[in-house]
Amino acid sequence: MANRLYLYPIWLRIWHMINALLFLALIVTGLSMQYSPVENPLIEFQTAIAVHNIAGILIIAAYIIFMVTNFSSSNKKYYVMKKKGLMDRLMKQSRYYAYGMFKGESTPFPVTEDEKFNPLQKLSYVGVIYILLPILMITGLALLYPEFIVHKVFGLNGTMLTALLHMFMGFLLTLFLLIHLYFASLSKKKFANFKSMITGWHEH
Ligand code: HEM
Repeated sequence: MANRLYLYPIWLRIWHMINALLFLALIVTGLSMQYSPVENPLIEFQTAIAVHNIAGILIIAAYIIFMVTNFSSSNKKYYVMKKKGLMDRLMKQSRYYAYGMFKGESTPFPVTEDEKFNPLQKLSYVGVIYILLPILMITGLALLYPEFIVHKVFGLNGTMLTALLHMFMGFLLTLFLLIHLYFASLSKKKFANFKSMITGWHEH
């Protein structure tokens, strides 16, 4: 059919589903360990640690498989940011989300075979995949094997700094997830984007 494009191959959908489930498990166990009261935790402390560690290792394995497959497929082209005119494109998309969308204007960057993400989507996905997730994973691994952490950084405790960075990345990624869900829910047909991530097809 001419009005639909196959943009989400099966390997991508499987990675995305596994990544989302593991991420939710990490958020719930992470929050439970950090914030729930010791005498009455949301999840029993040792259980939360075990689930968090296993989900962390699995999400790293899934990430490595995603990176290798993404780089060896045509999907990598969607993660290339062109600096020229970037600010203009971001402003155009922001204006659409803040104003145009509510006035019934059509999207300034329609989905095509060559460009499935709008500029804001691309910026957030590139930031998540290439910056936030790697920092989250590296600091998580370091906390799992603290013997590798530098003891003192500018006179401050290295483990504490690693833990703070890990929590900050977790916070930013949770924020990303909430914004991601909101924007994924914006489509003329209800749930169309969620359906795309199940069937692989984007419908215009
Ligand atoms: C309940 C959890 C989630 C749901 C329902 C969800 C939903 C979606 C949907 C509908 C799309 C396709 C439309 C679009 O590109 O915006 C998508 C794409 C994407 N999502 Fe999610 N998402 C979830 C969690 C996550 C998490 C935790 C991450 C990363 C930390 C993530 C990263 C991505 C990326 C990178 C893409 C683009 C994939 C590609 O086409 O190359 N998502 N998501």
